[in-house]
Amino acid sequence: MKGNSYLTRKIHSLLGVVPLALFLVNHAITNYSAFEGGPEGFNDSVEMLNGLPLIYFLEIFGIFLPLIFHGVYGLYVAYQSNWNNSRFQYGRNWAFTVQRLTGVITFVFVVWHVYQTRYQVLIGELTHEQLGNQMHEIFTNPVSVVLYTIGVLAAVFHFANGMWSFLVSWGITVGPRAQRISSYIWMGVFVIVSALFLLSIAAFRGDEFAETSAAVRTWIG
Ligand code: HEM
Repeated sequence: MKGNSYLTRKIHSLLGVVPLALFLVNHAITNYSAFEGGPEGFNDSVEMLNGLPLIYFLEIFGIFLPLIFHGVYGLYVAYQSNWNNSRFQYGRNWAFTVQRLTGVITFVFVVWHVYQTRYQVLIGELTHEQLGNQMHEIFTNPVSVVLYTIGVLAAVFHFANGMWSFLVSWGITVGPRAQRISSYIWMGVFVIVSALFLLSIAAFRGDEFAETSAAVRTWIG
């Protein structure tokens, strides 16, 4: 039983990096194309991704199954763990707690967000070309902007701090010096990836993403 749980935890940890961390960074860059290239730049990125060979296979095995396993098992770990855990040296305890908290926030956020985006394409309510308008509609509602900002910051913190812990637990950053340098690097990554997402929210609010939205929207209040 112990051995099983060790292996499950290792798989959980590895899936957090490959493919989920890779997905998150790629997703931030794709969305940032809305800031840099406007509707055209964003549509080109969406088209390019959806034109990849075996895209459904990649989505199922590269995003959704790892996400469900990492999320559901992560919730189980968060539920089981002692929230005042003291297994880390002073200064890392808060990060350990926030890692669990941001995991739960990210899980709820992702379910809501996928419902608003990918699921609407799946059931035929939206086409890929209408996703820019869809994001515009979502971000013209200030409550959604606040909830997305919280969701994005939680997801990116969970990713960056998770990478720091991953490198420790897989024996890659062993000594205190390596761990200190690693924490500066991941703090920098947190700032950059958060900025990419937040700039894309600002871009989607722009009028250029509204042009065809009146004709497109039916299902969101
Ligand atoms: C500014 C913030 C964000 C924006 C504008 C955004 C936008 C989008 C869009 C437009 C799609 C549909 C893509 C398609 O069907 O081609 C999507 C899908 C998705 N997003 Fe986000 N997203 C944001 C943040 C996040 C965050 C923080 C996560 C956390 C993990 C996330 C997870 C996902 C997932 C899992 C999918 C489904 C993936 C797929 O099948 O393509 N998103 N997002």
